[in-house]
Amino acid sequence: MRPLVAHLSRAALRHNYQQFPPNTWAVIKADGYGFGAVEVAKTLPDAPGFAVACIEEAIVLREGGIQGPILVLEGPFEPTEWMDIGAYQLDAVVHRPEQLDGLLELRQRSWAGIWLKIDTGMHRLGMSEPVALTCAQRIAGLAIQRRVWMAHFACADDVNAQLPLSAAPPGFALSLNNSAAGLTRHELPDNWSRAGIALFGASSVQGRSADDLGLQCVQRLCSQVVALREVPQGESVGYGGRWTASRDSRIATLPGGYADGYSRQMPDGTPVMIQGHLAPLAGRVSMDRITVDVTDFPDVQVGAAAELWGSQVSVDQVATAANTIAYELFCNVARRVPRIWSEA
Ligand SMILES: Cc1ncc(COP(=O)(O)O)c(C=O)c1O
Repeated sequence: MRPLVAHLSRAALRHNYQQFPPNTWAVIKADGYGFGAVEVAKTLPDAPGFAVACIEEAIVLREGGIQGPILVLEGPFEPTEWMDIGAYQLDAVVHRPEQLDGLLELRQRSWAGIWLKIDTGMHRLGMSEPVALTCAQRIAGLAIQRRVWMAHFACADDVNAQLPLSAAPPGFALSLNNSAAGLTRHELPDNWSRAGIALFGASSVQGRSADDLGLQCVQRLCSQVVALREVPQGESVGYGGRWTASRDSRIATLPGGYADGYSRQMPDGTPVMIQGHLAPLAGRVSMDRITVDVTDFPDVQVGAAAELWGSQVSVDQVATAANTIAYELFCNVARRVPRIWSEA
């Protein structure tokens, strides 16, 4: 078996969820940030609900046996999608008033939840408060289990940023927080958090590591040294000869390339943990493998265990090296990489 595997910890996932107040919904769009939405949902039975991007993702959860509330964050794209929202008893975001037309035309007797989305400064999706209030009036007479007034922060990652608030009208619950706000902004009004990235053990707060935030590592992307060679000073390694040996060097080759989700943007020097040593990436990431400079670690042999990210080298460190964020690395872990869950 190819020794590139994502080891996933249910205990760490549950621990991270517990860092949030009760009433925190787990955001598991994009197949649970790449971890597998159904598995993640089944690991978090205490979550009052789950949020996904679209109806197709919600149906995967329902058909995977998830019976509790599921929120569709982008709401319906077409009026006919209200039929699925009703049939699968989904909660739906309404971010522009026209989305409500399809709901009001249907004579469905009861709805799971309507979340009116306010634009408080992200300027991506959402309505002004007055427009949202007209929506609240239009649905006033309907049987709806949950009415929620929600907004999404653009700058919660910056602990010094002033966050724009919105107050829910009577009869509506309030939902504002993402991971960063839920973990750091205890001064905000009590509201239902919608937590994503922190559940998976990465930090989205500037200047604070996952450790600082009390989060545990959920994913270890593990590989193994499958070849070793001596590369004389002046020779180069990999496509385009990007890395050139400044001394006689030992180069280890490991499975894990951009087709696995290990980004081709990783520069020389990106840290790779091999047998307890932090060793630098040397040369371009290929489709299926990487090359790492282990000259300083003579004990590294073929078969040595490696961690591309995880508990010894954090996904945030690796993401920073590649000028991206942990969200993108997690979401890009390819299907061909086996996910192996353990209880511990
Ligand atoms: C509307 C909404 N709420 C909550 C989240 C969760 O954000 P995070 O993963 O930063 O916790 C997202 C993710 O982008 C989102 O789009």
